[in-house]
Amino acid sequence: MSFGVSIIAWYDLNKRDLPWRKTKDPYKIWLSEVLLQQTRVDQGMSYYLRFIESYPTVQDLAKAAEEDVLNLWQGLGYYSRARNLHFAAKQIVNDFGGIFPKTYKGILTLKGVGDYTASAIASICFGEEVAVVDGNVYRVLSRFLMIDTPIDTSKGNKEFKSVAMELIKGNDPNRFNQGVMELGATICTPKKPNCFECPINESCMSYAAQKMLAFPVKAKKLKQKVKYFNYLVIEYDGSTFLEQRVGKGIWENMYQFPLLETSKELFALDKEAEGLIFKKVSLTVKHILSHQIIYVKFWEYEVNPDSFIPDKSWQRITLDKIETKPVPKVIENYIRKLEK
Ligand code: ADE
Repeated sequence: MSFGVSIIAWYDLNKRDLPWRKTKDPYKIWLSEVLLQQTRVDQGMSYYLRFIESYPTVQDLAKAAEEDVLNLWQGLGYYSRARNLHFAAKQIVNDFGGIFPKTYKGILTLKGVGDYTASAIASICFGEEVAVVDGNVYRVLSRFLMIDTPIDTSKGNKEFKSVAMELIKGNDPNRFNQGVMELGATICTPKKPNCFECPINESCMSYAAQKMLAFPVKAKKLKQKVKYFNYLVIEYDGSTFLEQRVGKGIWENMYQFPLLETSKELFALDKEAEGLIFKKVSLTVKHILSHQIIYVKFWEYEVNPDSFIPDKSWQRITLDKIETKPVPKVIENYIRKLEK
């Protein structure tokens, strides 16, 4: 049996029962694919359900306030994806008359939509024969054919896309694509592939050579940057202060306590001259991302009203109102702890 026929037969019998597999609505598939690009199915599910409940159609999402969209996204990270989703919803309503584009090429014109998402939507919703290439697909194909071209290079991107485009030919594009991804997510997993249950183990080259874990190959070893975030939690007559993050990067445009970022860990932070009386450090958290490690400390202060002048960029807010603002998960967790 060919690769595609085996994959599809296996997928039909073994696919997980997921809410977005019961629909061909491109808006819902789009949302599910954007969510699944950055989170596991079990976590992504609750976000998906809440999004669909709050914004059942692309028109509803287009009408939403950006702050509400970011609030729903809270905890997922990569907030530019939420912003792009919102922007693209407006594109669909304003530029496409509210009708989701129906082809790979058309879908690709949406903000934040790249080759992966356009291929997923075009194949799943419209049956277009375009192969998806995501982390799962890289793993399955590199192992199956022992392709050692590094996947994090443009040569690798092109090679895997063209291999996948060859393999999908003549198959149902929807089930082929979802089948390869499903196999990568449930059987051909990164550390402990379950080769005994794999429908293509008999023709898998790396399995024959017992070299599964040597694939996929990456060119660069990631070097993680270490940063220290010191948040000033200032108690001032039943309220505190937040600032909005500016510029690109982590937690773009979200709100936070006034931040002092350092490259070394601080063990004392004297703000007496600014009218802040140190109480205690109440929480230190290690936040690990793909390219950086951030140590977050919450420094709690009281105010000396004679000498304290808040920074102009700060907004005064009562604790119970903070959760109406989009804040990073670490801050949300800290506030929850305070409330107990
Ligand atoms: N990962 C991302 N999208 C997926 C899909 N549609 N099916 C299985 N795994 C996925």
